Amino acid sequence: MTKPRVLVTRVIPDAGLDPVREACDVDLWTDELPPPREELLRRVAGVDGLLSLLTDRVDDELLDAAGPQLRVVSNFAVGFDNIDVPALTRRGIPGGNTPGVLTETTADLAFTLLMAAARRIPESVDYVRDGHWKTWGPMLLMGVDIHGATLGIVGFGRIGREMARRGRGFGMRILYHDVHPATPEDEAELGATRVELDELLRASDFVSLHVNLTDETHHLIDADALRAMKPTAVLVNTSRGPVVDPAALEVALRDGEIFAAGLDVTEPEPLPADHPLVGLPNCVVVPHIASASRVTRDKMARMAADNLLAGVRGERLPTPINPEVYDERA
Ligand code: DGY
Repeated sequence: MTKPRVLVTRVIPDAGLDPVREACDVDLWTDELPPPREELLRRVAGVDGLLSLLTDRVDDELLDAAGPQLRVVSNFAVGFDNIDVPALTRRGIPGGNTPGVLTETTADLAFTLLMAAARRIPESVDYVRDGHWKTWGPMLLMGVDIHGATLGIVGFGRIGREMARRGRGFGMRILYHDVHPATPEDEAELGATRVELDELLRASDFVSLHVNLTDETHHLIDADALRAMKPTAVLVNTSRGPVVDPAALEVALRDGEIFAAGLDVTEPEPLPADHPLVGLPNCVVVPHIASASRVTRDKMARMAADNLLAGVRGERLPTPINPEVYDERA
């Protein structure tokens, strides 16, 4: 029997690649960089399944290039703003993502950024490396306190809630904003109080972003939002880069409208080394690594493979992003 043909757009951990190789005829893109658009459109033609990354735009053009035999698009990420979901659904193609398995690892990194920015860790490391450490200094590299501070969480889904748990461990007061309020039981368990976004920005010492990227959340943190924050506040973004207006953030950090920022995601992404945000001492930028622990990436790979294999076999995906395709089929 001929095996289904699939395109995998980057090398992922063997935990996911091995089962896909066993069951399918795999075209694997092995470069470190994503396939250029023309290459992606060429290689996707005629495949039964696509295992995509958040760097691959999956839209009408790509789906047309793939052809009518395409049965599944499995994204190696929990976020799927790279996928035009209605375009998939119109064609009756299920898409999959990797929810749940990266929640805690991502919250760990968000809290790491919060602490690094608050206590000026990259600046302190550079200070030692550059040979400036001559004595103990009463005024040296002072940051802001984390314990007892107010943590404002924007987007109270899985990752936002794990961020709340970490904040509670540091004795922080937790505020959150989400269009969908948590249940009173969840609020009580997490010690979290729901407030409007304006109030959260004004009252929080730390603002951590955990929303999906949509038309509504694009540049949610703009110049006005940054001006509403305390001059001692720290902004943390592990959601998607375009949730924050980078030009406004640069001004806010440079002019002292806020104290610091910790960014795992940026606009544009990657952020060039000569970008003004990279040069600011109070901006800690890391290269979109929130889910990058070995264990978590293995789990994501396995989950993406499970979705891909279910799709090529015509079975329901374990974690579909457009379950409505199944309703429409019924
Ligand atoms: C995701 O999964 O959406 C992250 O951004 C990468 O792990």
